[in-house]
Amino acid sequence: MRKKTVVLGVTGGIAAYKAAALTSQLTQKGIDTWVILTESAARFVTPLTFQTLSKHHVFVDTFEERDPAVVSHIDLADKADLFVIAPATANIIGKMAQGIADDMLSTTVLATVAPVLICPAMNVHMYAHPAVQRNMNILKEWGYHFAEPGEGPLACGYTGKGRLAESESILTHIEYLLKKGNRKTDLKGKRVLVTAGPTREKVDPVRFFSNRSSGKMGFAIAEAARDRGAEVLLVTGPTSLPKPSGVITYPVESAEEMYHAVMEKIEEVDIVIKAAAVADYRPKEVHDQKIKKSEGQLIIELERTKDILFEIGKRKKHQFVVGFAAETKDVEYYAKDKMSRKNVDMIVANNVKLVGAGFEEDTNVVTIYVKNGQEISLPKMSKREVADAIFDQIMGLLEQRE
Ligand code: PMT
Repeated sequence: MRKKTVVLGVTGGIAAYKAAALTSQLTQKGIDTWVILTESAARFVTPLTFQTLSKHHVFVDTFEERDPAVVSHIDLADKADLFVIAPATANIIGKMAQGIADDMLSTTVLATVAPVLICPAMNVHMYAHPAVQRNMNILKEWGYHFAEPGEGPLACGYTGKGRLAESESILTHIEYLLKKGNRKTDLKGKRVLVTAGPTREKVDPVRFFSNRSSGKMGFAIAEAARDRGAEVLLVTGPTSLPKPSGVITYPVESAEEMYHAVMEKIEEVDIVIKAAAVADYRPKEVHDQKIKKSEGQLIIELERTKDILFEIGKRKKHQFVVGFAAETKDVEYYAKDKMSRKNVDMIVANNVKLVGAGFEEDTNVVTIYVKNGQEISLPKMSKREVADAIFDQIMGLLEQRE
């Protein structure tokens, strides 16, 4: 197999010293590694360190053209199978989100069509700043990959989120992305129905039962499907997320409404992915007026909602049907049980008690169970990457069907 090439951008934060170890680990794995330092990064660790570890010239200055046969930043941008920025400061993230190209690193990353993995590292307050969060969201929407920073004591003296992700986790991520290759449009011609978010089950005009689903997982699936060329129908419970562009969105509130929206479309679609956290129960009686408080207990009787996935499983013909399983224990047992009981082709199981998995998080940790017995356990990754991994599996299986 051709040797893979990683272009590693290092920016000016104290975690730059960890990038030296990362360079060494990459080259030891046989990955051809080319390093670009920003001028600030070169104040923390010298180019010579990276040159010695990578066995290649290290780039800092855009105009230092060492080889007259090529333009360095284009050559590096084209060479990359994967572009990694570790550590990535708030500054480089901001520049990338605005399309600014004013030094060797920002210019090269703008010129690459390779997948890009960004590994942020900064002070906890900088990381939480709305400007940084907005910039990261812009980049995520464009399909950039992120290695979430860890939490703990930071070099600046604060404790919190902002430490460069552990090198083992960055390496796993790099290997995963190198294997996966570049963006695809393999869903062209397919119609995909995704459900997302929670449902709300009314008690009275001011109260409802719901759950912690933010819609992030389902929205990420819808966006991945759109980017891979599918026509996407997104049935979503109430969330605060912006409607994804290029996706037909059907907002619903209750499990009953979600049931009808899904059933109306089910015949027309090729793939169904049910990431929504649908209420299993709803109040038996919905009060017309606000329930007034009174002495003693209030007992609300609940009744079962319709199990939408179960209904889809009963009716499915040509559709490839994927369910999710949100579990807190015995994940494998319950996931497999749901797969057979609900007659679905695949179950994506998340242990929602794990840090970085499940509700509201930007990341998830899932195991994909397939009807044919295959099991794929994925490391912690962004919900967008989980979405792509799910489609990789589905497309592999659909190819075998044809
Ligand atoms: O939205 P986020 O904050 O990003 O969180 C993501 C998530 C945790 C909600 C998501 O990853 C997830 O696990 N979604 C499924 C949650 C769930 O309801 O799981 P379940 O094990 O209770 O249900 C199993 C499957 O049956 C699911 O596909 C569910 O959509 C479906 N179901 C459940 C009940 C019901 N009445 N009808 C259904 O279709």
